[in-house]
Amino acid sequence: MCGIIAAATDRSVGKLLIKGLYKMEYRGYDSAGIAMHVEGDVAHLRTLGKVNLLEDKMKSEKPKGKVGIAHTRWATHGEPSEINAHPHQSNDRVFIVHNGIIENYLDLKNELTTQGYTFYSKTDSELIAHLLDHFLKTNDSLLKAMQSLKNKLEGAYAIAALDQKDPDNLVLARNRSPLVIGLGKKENFAASDPLALAELTKKFLIMEDGDVARISSNQVEIYDEQDKLTNREELSIDVNAEASSKGNFRHYMEKEIFEQPGAILNTLDGRIGGEDVLDNIFGEGSSDLLAKVKRVQIVACGTALHAGRVAANWFSAISGLPTQMDYASEYRYKNPYIDEDTLLIAISQSGETADTLAALRYAKEKDYLATLGICNTPTSSLAREADYLLLTNAGQEIGVASTKCFTTQLVALMLLTLALAKASGKNPRLRGRIIEALRTLPEKISDALKLKSDIVDFAPEIANKDNALFLGRGIFYPIAKEGALKLKEISYIHAEAYPAGELKHGPLALIDEEMPVVAIAPEYELAEKLASNLEEVKARGGALYVFGNAKEKLDLSTGRYISMPECDFLLTPILYSIPLQILSYEVALLRGTDIDQPRNLAKSVTVE
Ligand code: M6R
Repeated sequence: MCGIIAAATDRSVGKLLIKGLYKMEYRGYDSAGIAMHVEGDVAHLRTLGKVNLLEDKMKSEKPKGKVGIAHTRWATHGEPSEINAHPHQSNDRVFIVHNGIIENYLDLKNELTTQGYTFYSKTDSELIAHLLDHFLKTNDSLLKAMQSLKNKLEGAYAIAALDQKDPDNLVLARNRSPLVIGLGKKENFAASDPLALAELTKKFLIMEDGDVARISSNQVEIYDEQDKLTNREELSIDVNAEASSKGNFRHYMEKEIFEQPGAILNTLDGRIGGEDVLDNIFGEGSSDLLAKVKRVQIVACGTALHAGRVAANWFSAISGLPTQMDYASEYRYKNPYIDEDTLLIAISQSGETADTLAALRYAKEKDYLATLGICNTPTSSLAREADYLLLTNAGQEIGVASTKCFTTQLVALMLLTLALAKASGKNPRLRGRIIEALRTLPEKISDALKLKSDIVDFAPEIANKDNALFLGRGIFYPIAKEGALKLKEISYIHAEAYPAGELKHGPLALIDEEMPVVAIAPEYELAEKLASNLEEVKARGGALYVFGNAKEKLDLSTGRYISMPECDFLLTPILYSIPLQILSYEVALLRGTDIDQPRNLAKSVTVE
């Protein structure tokens, strides 16, 4: 999704802005641009494509300035093109970058067209520049113009703007789209993603909805929703600069897959003790709250929802609680069943996914017992708005395909399962067993990572196919879904997942020699039934790739069998995720796709 970086400094700003854009590349984008004050004028450069093209343009045009704004765009309104790239400008005076979506843009565009403004792009963002220009006719500063503008805009926005007639200041606005201010020495910054400022500062102010701010190299002023000068708490955030390097790995995704043992240790750190989960790990008073929960509602998107689907099995089996799950994008529109004993859980690595946030905000208005967030981004809207919170502490995830954030979400959800069971006095011995298994999980994950060379062996067989099926039963069905999602998003192979028992109700018609079938087959109560389902595939010539730990129970004269490390059954969904991630990665590598930034996708989906 789009990324904003802005800076008012005492030094040359161009390189700093470009560096910030590189750091936000992981979010996914199609074009980039910069506007900066240069000796009474504004340099305005935009390119379709990657940031390195913008950097080349900067090198050839050599603009010199100290105050500027920059942007990476992920197309929503209007195709990816230079003309649609940000910054947009009005009358060569006002330049803006914008994240989010302006919902009333057609009405505003019509008004502005009647007033004589010409629109060059197909974006909803350009009108922001024209409206600011319009308000500057009756206001003496860009700050005041921005305050007037916010009363006209409906929708989500993070905006950074500059006025050619005011070379020292930048003006910012935020509503439902993240924007932070970074504080430096004789320089101040703003960004939609703190990672963009990783090497510049550790001191941040988080803007709130309705805030408008003015920053220069030596001053920051923030005005609240009522336009009153206000203070926002200064936070110290150590945005790990290492996260922005791939180390010896070829892609961030590969690095993040191999970081999982450490990431899981971090999720567990300080949350378990003796034979149980510690009290109040979801925030003060959370243990008392959890004792009152009678049912659970989960909202999330994509991979995060798959984590929720696994957890629903745990909540039922270990905590004795029924769970309702919904795509966050659907939940609000289905008249959800709500009662005062229900805990609403929102899961999101970024904490900025627009649909998940909208679901959380909807839920907060309703009669739920409380809302609880599982999130990896401490500064995110979700982390700040949920009543209770568990941070997964996986470290920044850069690859668009979620890996370590998924497995740490599962660990966090297992901690929640145990906390719910503990709060109602259920299953003390089982809790002790799971705690023990969680302690050894990082080692088991390291063992599973060693399967890489086996997977590399057969990845070419899948890489030259157009389709793939993933099968799992019970608690492994969501893992099959996650495996299929991973494969399709980074290799562009069409992949679907089914509970294996469903095969004969339709999908079996698809099976022939061209259809690789990946099955998750650990030793458990459904293993024999799954074995029969795999026979149905074999009989029709489908190529089987089976991950399991009971080969003797399968008649696998054809196909591949990958022997998985042993692990407590209740944690096997976490373990079995690992080879599926490696498989997608290796297949995508062979197909030569853009693994960290797959086409059309974004890391943080901040539009509904
Ligand atoms: O930031 P979130 O966890 O809320 O993101 C949700 C989905 O957009 C995300 O999991 C997406 O499905 C990933 N690309 C999957 O790898």
